[in-house]
Amino acid sequence: MNKDRVLSGMRATGFMHLGHYHGALKNWIKLQSELECFYFVADWHGLTSHYEDPRIIASSTFDMVTDWLAAGLDPNQATIFMQSQVPQHAELTLLLGMITPLGWLERVPTFKEQQENIKDKDLSTYGFLGYPLMQTADIVVYRANKVPVGADQVSHLEISREIARRFNHIYGREAGFEEKAVATLKKLGGKSAKEYESLKAAFGQDGNVESLDKARALIAAAGSISGAEKEMLQAFLTGARKVILPEPDALLTPTSKLVGLDGRKMSKSYGNGIDLREPPASVEQKIKRMTTDPKRARRTDPGNPDDCPVWTLHEVYSDAARKAWVREGCTTAGIGCLECKQPIIEAVNAELAPMQVRIKEIEAKPNYVKEVLGDGCAKARIAAEETMREVRDAMGLAKL
Ligand code: TRP
Ligand code: SF4
Repeated sequence: MNKDRVLSGMRATGFMHLGHYHGALKNWIKLQSELECFYFVADWHGLTSHYEDPRIIASSTFDMVTDWLAAGLDPNQATIFMQSQVPQHAELTLLLGMITPLGWLERVPTFKEQQENIKDKDLSTYGFLGYPLMQTADIVVYRANKVPVGADQVSHLEISREIARRFNHIYGREAGFEEKAVATLKKLGGKSAKEYESLKAAFGQDGNVESLDKARALIAAAGSISGAEKEMLQAFLTGARKVILPEPDALLTPTSKLVGLDGRKMSKSYGNGIDLREPPASVEQKIKRMTTDPKRARRTDPGNPDDCPVWTLHEVYSDAARKAWVREGCTTAGIGCLECKQPIIEAVNAELAPMQVRIKEIEAKPNYVKEVLGDGCAKARIAAEETMREVRDAMGLAKL
């Protein structure tokens, strides 16, 4: 059985654009048929910066999930849910907060950057500082080990790993583990037990890997103890602690080079995007007006695709032959920019057409998205609760 578990989320921002699709969604869709996947709307994360005007968060959530489904996320393959309906995320955020040093959060680069760059809101809040902590809880509450994200999220994954490691270090001790291991050792029989002990010592004192391998083989071959007991003796060998919260790995999404209409990163806040819902005529208009290499002020001026945002679209939508046509035509002024853009307009519209049909179908069933989210949240709560039982126990909270 494949134990990999994928988790990723997006803040609730509403309609998806081509940057979301090529930068994240397409990859999520590919992963859903390969691994167990959890995808969610980070609506609480939306509140960390939009706490003063949260009215759009609910509608953004439904719009966003509609677009996810239209793009091809499949609720029969992936668990699709929203953060605020799975209270275990909040509980784990609170508990992890007990062991997270303030300095770790203050040093996360995105924290400083955003505090400096975003001047129209007061982001000196506890919630905003805790953004990466809540993100950590989002991930480890499912014990997800693979987190598909863009390069901008790498520092958040780094702190997630640190917090998980610290948690395991502090709480990954079983009461009486050593005593239990020693008792199990006796079951191995005198001779094997002695051999185990001397190999363990050789590894512990001198880091002798050969001894470790020998000891492992010895345990594996032992007939007198159960599988669980074998596991315990394997862990006892290296002094490894119990891993309650596995450290997650970023699954770096190959960065889509697709940029916005003005050449900057495609982003809702810059207003330079093409939405998945963009009507064909609007796609045409936007691409026709899109910035090109400034050196091609006149039709007869040669240009360089590497300095042109339209080229980033050809990299996504064109095959080798058409890319060669663009390079040749652009650098020799053999083609005009409108001519160069025409196949892109057609490709984008062809890509969006089936999604737009599905958006209409989904929106014709008024409760469909809520049902998908309801099922997904129920599944997510079950998975999250499994981890929380162990976490509460490890942290010493009483059970009734
Ligand atoms: N911080 C992520 C972003 O801005 C969103 C997010 C929240 C997330 N929780 C997550 C991504 C957990 C991956 C895993 O894009
Ligand atoms: Fe850009 Fe194409 Fe115009 Fe060259 S011909 S500047 S690649 S739009």
